[in-house]
Amino acid sequence: MPTSVHILLIPGDGIGPEVVHAAAHVLASIAPDLTFAQAEAGWDCFQRQGTALPALTLEMARQANAILFGATQSPMGETPGYNSPILSLRKELNLFANLRPARNLPDSRPEFDLLIVRENSEGLYSGRERPIPGGFIAERVVTGVASHRIAQIACEQAYVQSARTGRRPHLTIVHKANVLKKSDGLFRTNCLEVAAAYSDLLVDELLVDTAAMWLAKDPGRFDVLVTTNLFGDILSDLTAGLAGGLGLAPSANLGANGIALFEPVHGSAPDIAGQGIANPIAALRSSVMLLQHLRRMEEATRLETAINTVLQVGPHPRDMGGRATTTEVANAVKRLALA
Ligand code: NAI
Ligand code: MG
Repeated sequence: MPTSVHILLIPGDGIGPEVVHAAAHVLASIAPDLTFAQAEAGWDCFQRQGTALPALTLEMARQANAILFGATQSPMGETPGYNSPILSLRKELNLFANLRPARNLPDSRPEFDLLIVRENSEGLYSGRERPIPGGFIAERVVTGVASHRIAQIACEQAYVQSARTGRRPHLTIVHKANVLKKSDGLFRTNCLEVAAAYSDLLVDELLVDTAAMWLAKDPGRFDVLVTTNLFGDILSDLTAGLAGGLGLAPSANLGANGIALFEPVHGSAPDIAGQGIANPIAALRSSVMLLQHLRRMEEATRLETAINTVLQVGPHPRDMGGRATTTEVANAVKRLALA
């Protein structure tokens, strides 16, 4: 077991601190040797310090074994000097892969257990928009290098997923190469080439619109999907909806050299911030992914099993139709994980 594993908490704004502190409390209870530090980022930080992502936060992030990020609030409209911290972190730490698992709630239909692997560094998030007469052009960047490395992560994840579900390793490549012939053509070719090196991997492909239809109609047919940035963003919100909503959806951002940041998919939820009623399950599930990344499989399984029990028997928070507070849900998970 590695000694003194160091977790950096970046709680952020709104419900970010509420769910991150709840999850960190549970993590500290089930893995007491972990050490924690905390760093600032977000809108509140911007108003006090003039930057949404201080250099100190970035430095601490580079030193950490893993990062647990809450959510930050973005100001409406253009605010000079404000850049979204999560986008800056993904860029600065080169977190090129975004993993977004989704599965059905216990005892609910249809049954599914899938993972969307989203390319996180390019596509329509290139930040390149420029004026043309009468409008703007947004540049969608696709490179062979980025397509190749995301395909590799996705293939590896297909085996991890298979070990968990007992199904055959299965990768679905999602693209729009019939229209975006050159850019998505390159993405598709790279994915097919990388996947061909894995002998027992079942590989298929779908156009993104067809993939959306099948995800809505029969999500159980999928295991691991790999796609470009914006398609992955949209499809993973769709699967988050199928899986019970944003309060439940976790994610991981992976980069080279083992650097990794874990975060709930949801934002700062200003409409419920400060009331102590945010659902901590998305942050707790992100913590399961964090433990798995650290190869702490025993603790990860204990935490995941405890979360599943709470999903089944409660206590449930408000977004799941219950009345439990953030702390009550997290404490119930903690008790079960320690039992
Ligand atoms: P949101 O995810 O914050 O909230 C959408 C809806 O879901 C709200 O009704 C909220 O109450 C509910 N919700 C979200 N998480 C919940 C939880 N854990 N428990 C119970 N209910 C939950 O998205 P929205 O409202 O579009 O954005 C709010 C702010 O968050 C914006 O400033 C946005 O830019 C930011 N944001 C930040 C992200 C990040 O830091 N990674 C990601 C998404 C949004
Ligand atoms: Mg999104």
